[in-house]
Amino acid sequence: ELLTINRVAATMGVKAPISIRVNPDVDPRTHAYISTGLKKNKFGIAIERALIEYRAARDLENIEVLGVDCHIGSQITELEPFGDAMERLKALILTLRGEGMDIKYLDIGGGLGIPYSDETPPAPDEYARAVLKVVGDLGCTLVLEPGRAIAGNAGILVGKVLYTKEGEAKRFLISDAAMNDLVRPSLYGSYHAILPVRQGVAIARADLVGPICESGDFLAKDRDLPAMEAGDLFAAMSAGAYGFSMSSNYNSRPRVAEVMVSGDKYQVIRQRESYEDLVKGESVPVF
Ligand SMILES: Cc1ncc(COP(=O)(O)O)c(C=O)c1O
Repeated sequence: ELLTINRVAATMGVKAPISIRVNPDVDPRTHAYISTGLKKNKFGIAIERALIEYRAARDLENIEVLGVDCHIGSQITELEPFGDAMERLKALILTLRGEGMDIKYLDIGGGLGIPYSDETPPAPDEYARAVLKVVGDLGCTLVLEPGRAIAGNAGILVGKVLYTKEGEAKRFLISDAAMNDLVRPSLYGSYHAILPVRQGVAIARADLVGPICESGDFLAKDRDLPAMEAGDLFAAMSAGAYGFSMSSNYNSRPRVAEVMVSGDKYQVIRQRESYEDLVKGESVPVF
């Protein structure tokens, strides 16, 4: 990648400012699929190798080494992994500066977790204090990439129960929302609180499932859920991050509309998809 950037920068007659994503080999103690800063993960350059790559970058004509970057994972609910990663990056930055590289930026990625259920992630100011405690004296411009912490609890997925089914082994609530709309339960076994729109509904054990042809198509499994009936609306909470952005058209399902709400105002900010959207761009071969 460095060689490619160097070549492109040379053809443009510029020096490309770069930062290398370093993998600090820190366990973020989160779901394996969203852990990104361990040696066994595909991301970044191992911290032990980083110095070699930084030296190589420094020696390239059209590259300007400006920063150090990392992102150790997502839905992190403790401060220690961030602190450990910062300690390691700080040591690297001091070494790089000792070799004449003027590291001005430290990008610490995202990762701050949110409560989905009873998790108690640090508040943003606690997180900021913990980061500054380690790297605050470096004089670097800090770059943060929070995603989930901003959007996660700002969004819900509203679905409707289409049918109820008393199965042989359990009760199913079959909703119009499915794994293509919110894949986190299927992908990670994630918990999303399910709240009924109609108040005063009793609680009963059930699976809330979608109409997709997969047994992994569920929003809640073996849970004490509102004992909803056909026609009842519900909210799958905390769906603002990795919700719509991970949604798909699997099973030829048009994606849902997105509605922005502020106080008593609301506006459709993305139209519900149509059948025409699904087949747009497709054509029947001429042969
Ligand atoms: C490089 C990078 N930065 C930031 C984020 C956002 O992470 P989060 O939503 O946990 O804050 C991600 C998520 O995958 C990422 O890969």
